[in-house]
Amino acid sequence: MLRVMTLVVLCALFTLSSQFSAASTSSQPPTIFTPTKITELYAWVIRAFAGDPAYNDLMLAFAALFSPRPPAHAVSLLESALEALPSDSDAPLGEPYSLMERESGSLGAMGAGQWTGQFRTRPHALLDVRQFSTVDEYTKSLSRGARRTLARSYAQNFTVTSKTILGNEPAPHSSLAHFRCVVEHEVRLLSPNSGSLDDDLLQALAEAINRFNNCVSQAGELREYRDSNTGEIIAFAQEAAKGRVSRGQWFYASDAAAKQYVWFHSVQEIVGRSIENPDIDVVDLGPSGTDAFSELKAKYGFASVNDWHTVADYRGRFKYENGDEGPSWKQLDPPDWLFEKKRGPFGIF
Ligand SMILES: *[C@@H]1O[C@H](CO)[C@@H](O)[C@H](O)[C@H]1NC(C)=O
Repeated sequence: MLRVMTLVVLCALFTLSSQFSAASTSSQPPTIFTPTKITELYAWVIRAFAGDPAYNDLMLAFAALFSPRPPAHAVSLLESALEALPSDSDAPLGEPYSLMERESGSLGAMGAGQWTGQFRTRPHALLDVRQFSTVDEYTKSLSRGARRTLARSYAQNFTVTSKTILGNEPAPHSSLAHFRCVVEHEVRLLSPNSGSLDDDLLQALAEAINRFNNCVSQAGELREYRDSNTGEIIAFAQEAAKGRVSRGQWFYASDAAAKQYVWFHSVQEIVGRSIENPDIDVVDLGPSGTDAFSELKAKYGFASVNDWHTVADYRGRFKYENGDEGPSWKQLDPPDWLFEKKRGPFGIF
């Protein structure tokens, strides 16, 4: 069902913006992507994720949201989706994937294809935490500018809560409030006219929907950031520990959180926890060269490693902070021979 939806998204992108561009005549197109639109989009995609075929057409959703003359059945679908939304915007409404399904999704997103020999990924950003015995040693190894930014990130008005993502339950971050973080994050990165109706905006929304669907169907620990004055969810990070690696997998911040150094805070936190955890050797922040965070990762001590799969040892089960361990993935784990040769730091002989 979800794959079908992805296909429909791509087709929609090429026809929609030309269809609606006549609506904006001025050189500065009006911002029509209001907060209400995020709620409407969430109401729609949650129905599609639940497998309701009437909602499995993102072009229709975009028409309902943005067309000056939306088709009547699109309007009534949107109305009934909105009526079904609970008033609590923090309520998780995602699908109750099993732990096996969640871990399998995480494996793919981790880049397991590289160690199973199916495909090559981009280099990954790795930090070997065995070189540090305290988080202070880590921060002292960084440039003065980076240290100052990290210190600033700890002087902000937010609180962090950790939640383990469980099997057979909706993911705790499958709520409207978290969806808002993902959408604002993607629109900020991909839609330079921020909120004007054009191809960039539709591309950003389609990307946000795919990313949201991916992260709420996967496993790990959720770090949830709230504004301590308003209580509002402003960002989240999702990490998964497997074998001897802690993988920082997903990070999304609202526009407000982007100004509050939340990402930097999340990096120091995952490094600090991994230094203290004797089972973890390496923190893996994932692909380098794919997003705005890539240069930052280097500034915070993470090396870009081509053969990351021979350095970050992902052999072994997923481990959770509530003490649970996932099923064995032995047949999909990295082969032992990858780790048998004596290698220097980061796989360089
Ligand atoms: C945190 O909130 C307090 C009270 O609202 C405010 O005075 C202070 O400037 C805020 N700090 C930052 C770093 O925004």
